[in-house]
Amino acid sequence: MILTREEQRHSTLSEEVRSEMLAAVAACERKRGAALDVLLIAKRYYGWISDEMLRELAVILEMSPAELDSVATFYNQIYRKPIGRHVILVCDSVSCWIMGYDLVRVRLTARLGINLGQTTPDGRFTLLPIQCLGACDQAPAMMVDGELFVNLDATTIDEIIQRYP
Ligand code: FES
Repeated sequence: MILTREEQRHSTLSEEVRSEMLAAVAACERKRGAALDVLLIAKRYYGWISDEMLRELAVILEMSPAELDSVATFYNQIYRKPIGRHVILVCDSVSCWIMGYDLVRVRLTARLGINLGQTTPDGRFTLLPIQCLGACDQAPAMMVDGELFVNLDATTIDEIIQRYP
């Protein structure tokens, strides 16, 4: 897809990102089949998907913005709002819930000064709940920027937070 100059001026995507997305789209029989790949590319480069960007991606995928938004919001690791430099995902499923989820949640919210679903005012952390991280036998568990931490207690939570500037 070649953009007019006017479209380039208003594009939220760099040429590099657009090229990567177009390659993902070209690899699919139907353009919309690349929706998740395109969203993940956008996430990798920009962290989150603004309304403006969503509209642009929808054009690339030949979908309506509403259709693409429903794909984006179905996946809980595609973010539609700005996020912090680091994203903490706290498992609130049954094994973790039994093994100390409440302690983890209370410790994190106290240390970060935010509730679940919020970002610290300095933009350092976003704290989000998530369903099972697949580490039920080592509960309670959480993930920071894709790195899994298990058997959490107050001390390990404090140590983990300090690793992420
Ligand atoms: S229930 Fe928390 S990792 Fe499975």
